[in-house]
Amino acid sequence: MAEDAATRVSAGIERAATISARAQYLVALTGAGMSVESGIPPFRGPGGLWTKYGEPPMNGYQRFLADPAQAWRERLSPQGPMRELWETLHAAQPNPGHHALARLESAGILRCLITQNVDNLHRLAGSQAIAEIHGNYMLVRCIECSRRFAGDEIPLEALPPRCPHCQGILKNDSVFFGEPIPTDVLGRCFDAAEQCDCMIVAGTSATVYPAAQFPFDVRQRGGDVIEINPYATELTPIASVSVHGPAAVVLPELAMRIIQLRGM
Ligand code: APR
Repeated sequence: MAEDAATRVSAGIERAATISARAQYLVALTGAGMSVESGIPPFRGPGGLWTKYGEPPMNGYQRFLADPAQAWRERLSPQGPMRELWETLHAAQPNPGHHALARLESAGILRCLITQNVDNLHRLAGSQAIAEIHGNYMLVRCIECSRRFAGDEIPLEALPPRCPHCQGILKNDSVFFGEPIPTDVLGRCFDAAEQCDCMIVAGTSATVYPAAQFPFDVRQRGGDVIEINPYATELTPIASVSVHGPAAVVLPELAMRIIQLRGM
């Protein structure tokens, strides 16, 4: 990173830490860019899956409901972009950015982590106050009663697998395009976003709703938004601070400064 860019990033981190350290209810919102340094490509922008293969069909959920068995067969032997995504998901490990957010939570500073990522890396890094708004690929969920189960606990001899509780059809917990976001996790997201007076937004293009709405709402209520993204997004014009750097590099420095400023 050229000297002046590095200087700009450090100055941005300092401003972001000052604002975040005085927050009463700090919330983080993360997207695919959070896991780029873990080897998982983003969806949009440079190196994105949709950039490479084109946007997926927007009716994934309707196609699942039309033929759940066939959808499960495709899930168990994925092709093209979904194969690339599943393979990188299985190999990925949390990066220093994930660990930094887990540290802020264990220091009692970060109150909630809303993630659009299904990759389970925040949980692996130790985050517990977490709302996975687009689900978690390691889980399956009943489309009738919404109960979730560990994917490796469910027999797959008969497809589609059935819910042990109500015999409803099970699907991967990842939210498909066109699928309503489960009300339990959506409720947790709205609760956190409504109490939030400062939101750290890392690694998202801020283009998919309702997740993208949260930072705009925080700003509208007079709260602060800290954006961490190597590139400008729809959020950049309204952010209190935009730090143009990779999450795995910026977040550890930001977390350390926030903890120092909190006198911990
Ligand atoms: N650090 C931080 N941000 C990064 C990095 C990085 N190292 N590399 C890329 N980015 C940024 C990109 O500039 C982009 O703005 O991460 C963002 C990734 O944007 P998307 O690929 O659109 O991912 P996301 O915003 O999470 O997408 C939202 O869309 O396809 C659906 O369900 C999927 O949850 C996903 C949702």
